[in-house]
Amino acid sequence: MSMKLPFFKSKQPEQNDLELINVPNHVAIIMDGNGRWAKKRGLPRIAGHKEGMSVVRKITRVASNLNIKILTLYAFSTENWKRPKSEVDFLMKLPIDFLDIYLPEMIENNVRIETIGDFDTLPKSTKEAIQHAKDRTKDNDGLLLNFALNYGSRTEILRAIKHIVSDVSEKDLPVDELDEQFFAKYLYTEGLCDPDLLIRTSGEQRLSNFLLWQLAYTEFWFTDVYWPEFTEGIFKEALLDYQNRKRRYGGI
Ligand code: IPE
Ligand code: IPE
Ligand code: MG
Repeated sequence: MSMKLPFFKSKQPEQNDLELINVPNHVAIIMDGNGRWAKKRGLPRIAGHKEGMSVVRKITRVASNLNIKILTLYAFSTENWKRPKSEVDFLMKLPIDFLDIYLPEMIENNVRIETIGDFDTLPKSTKEAIQHAKDRTKDNDGLLLNFALNYGSRTEILRAIKHIVSDVSEKDLPVDELDEQFFAKYLYTEGLCDPDLLIRTSGEQRLSNFLLWQLAYTEFWFTDVYWPEFTEGIFKEALLDYQNRKRRYGGI
């Protein structure tokens, strides 16, 4: 039996047809369009990133209220280092600002914070702020808010292969044991189910090196809206669309 209810704690409860028993376990979002949003308003690109930060908070709250288990947000790619230093510096400071403001709320709402990507090469202050948040929220069992930060899928796959090759020789692992489950344990997403739904904002329809392995059977949903103007309503639209899809995984 399906249950149709408005969202918990929603400020303006909307009638909608979203089924609370069929929400995706794992939603991944490519939060794109911050720069264009700012440009459209005659603002510097960093104003778009700042605005995008409050949208992260808003969507985290919605996801948590809906009992989505994992929200993976693409925040910085391994290719984003190509941007001007001033923008990169701002983006590296953003997690610090985000956690300064919202960590207490995340703790209160039982959210666990984690990251995927090359954490070690992030600036020290960024790492410290995030590590603190991870430590403070590690025992929470509500929404997993998973930031893809300094993340690139090809690097992730190569890294997995290097670890496997060294484990095969050092630990004498039989190569026959290398199946999909085994391989997935070497990825940053070890232990996480694959995303059920991928959302990309800003009109671009590409993956930009995001979760190439993990998205093999994920449902994709695109919107022209820039990330800073992404709303709870648009998020629900994506979720509703997801609920109306028939996933076949190659079957019939
Ligand atoms: C997404 O917005 C945020 C990051 C990639 C860090 P962009 O900064 O890519 O914004 P556009 O795509 O240039 O508008
Ligand atoms: C993808 O957006 C990365 C993030 C959202 C963090 P980009 O703006 O970097 O992607 P491209 O360059 O348009 O493919
Ligand atoms: Mg972009």
